[in-house]
Amino acid sequence: MTTDLNHTKRIGILAAMPEELKTFLDEMPDEHQVELAGRTFWVGHWHGHVVIAVLSGIGKVAAAVTSSLLINRFHATEIWFTGVAGGLGEEVRVGDVVVADELMQHDLDARPLFPRFEVPGKGVSVLKTDADLANRAVQAAQVVLQVVAHDGESHAGQLCRQDLDALGIGRPAVHRGLIASGDQFIGSAKASQGIRDAMPAVLAVEMEGAAVAQVCHDFGVPFVVIRTISDRADDEAHIDFQRFITAVASPFSHAVVDAMLRSE
Ligand code: ADE
Repeated sequence: MTTDLNHTKRIGILAAMPEELKTFLDEMPDEHQVELAGRTFWVGHWHGHVVIAVLSGIGKVAAAVTSSLLINRFHATEIWFTGVAGGLGEEVRVGDVVVADELMQHDLDARPLFPRFEVPGKGVSVLKTDADLANRAVQAAQVVLQVVAHDGESHAGQLCRQDLDALGIGRPAVHRGLIASGDQFIGSAKASQGIRDAMPAVLAVEMEGAAVAQVCHDFGVPFVVIRTISDRADDEAHIDFQRFITAVASPFSHAVVDAMLRSE
């Protein structure tokens, strides 16, 4: 390792989906890959910044291992997570974006040893993201969605109005607040109502964010979680998920990360 490690910002980017990761790697022509623990870490530059991009893996354990490796082995000084989530907040629709201010584990319950949702040994149930990174993510998401609102043309790999229309997505909004994570795909009105009842402020549900939060808190590494809403976590027929990932979620993640890196 070189001696300038202490001064160099090294941005760990955790992608939830291979399609997203591919759009990131397309921006990192000098990347080299490192295989570790069954994962491929891609180290390179994007807009002049050192970036380590990797698939998070699905679920809390996988995401915790990947983020620990990013910090310990690749010396990531901050972590950005991108992916999709189910919308739980009343106003949170498919195509919207949720930037986490706070994360909780909706399936963490060590009662009677600790109160429901409390992380054993930490004395807290809510973990906060970095306010500056969250501000920048919200700003970037707003700019990206503003542009797409006026851009009707379809460009390969870019978010565009045509694709949103084809998927029945109107004017996507950006929300900021609480995301709940757990090792379950939430796909019924009963399950999503259960989470809402226990956490009235929850905006979205996914399977990794709070695990990344816990690791980053343990290591004192700033992080942010950015999720595009792919479903309403209920019994309704889902939209064309693959098309959503390819045409909406991946181009969106790419555009937001690109804008955030430009603003560094
Ligand atoms: N990721 C995307 N949608 C989800 C859902 N409904 N539950 C958990 N994780 C998700």
